[in-house]
Amino acid sequence: MKKIAELYRGKAKTVYSTEDSNFLILEFRNDTSAFDGQRIEQLERKGAVNNKFNYFIMTKLKDAGIPTQIERLLSDNEVLVKKLDMIPVECVVRNRAAGSLVRRLGVEEGLILIPPTFELFLKNDSLHDPMVNEYHCESFGWATNKQLNRMKELSFSINTILTKMFGNAGLILVDYKLEFGLFNGEVVLGDEFSPDGCRLWEKQTLKKMDKDRFRQGLGGVIEAYEDVAHRIGVPL
Ligand code: TMP
Ligand code: ASP
Repeated sequence: MKKIAELYRGKAKTVYSTEDSNFLILEFRNDTSAFDGQRIEQLERKGAVNNKFNYFIMTKLKDAGIPTQIERLLSDNEVLVKKLDMIPVECVVRNRAAGSLVRRLGVEEGLILIPPTFELFLKNDSLHDPMVNEYHCESFGWATNKQLNRMKELSFSINTILTKMFGNAGLILVDYKLEFGLFNGEVVLGDEFSPDGCRLWEKQTLKKMDKDRFRQGLGGVIEAYEDVAHRIGVPL
């Protein structure tokens, strides 16, 4: 399958059409952004690492019964996916307090959340991805009640699968962001799962192994992504 036209250029990925209108090609770039795109840097190898990382995780989820858009890895930086009609809302699951939750509620970073929380954010950089609730989603027509319930159900099933997988590799899955879309009316997992969109801490030392290294200027960003990839068995 070949790229035909550039449809959309996001902050870290470019989306291309293909000969088949049901499929798209995602190209993972080295661009790394933070603070709603206010800070962008090129990090060598990031595109390839995240593409392979995402393919590995999506395949694991698919094998565990989660509907995903993933089809096949095309190259170091490209993957073939089903074309989804994306729901413009980000779903965030948190097992521990970090990031915006700590800022918003003034709780201590690392606080264990029982049960894990589920939050919705509108995908809109100029508004800084504001937090929204299920009523906003329904009233503004972003998602129906039935779709929201399915998104929540899938988000928590994914938590069970991935908490175990990262846990076996000595890592804590602190939180993560998912995006869903519709394919023939069915809610399907889209976008990506990589260290750009989740928080992972080393169990023993609580060392940050995700994009917080970039956001907080800690250095060794891609080295940490590669370390996580090796631990869970992603072929790089
Ligand atoms: P937050 O603590 O900043 O709300 O982020 C929660 C999780 O969602 C964290 O793992 C990072 C991820 N995330 C994204 O992937 N993209 C975004 O635009 C935001 C705000 C968060
Ligand atoms: N992905 C978002 C951005 O670029 C937010 C983040 O990951 O911090 O700006």
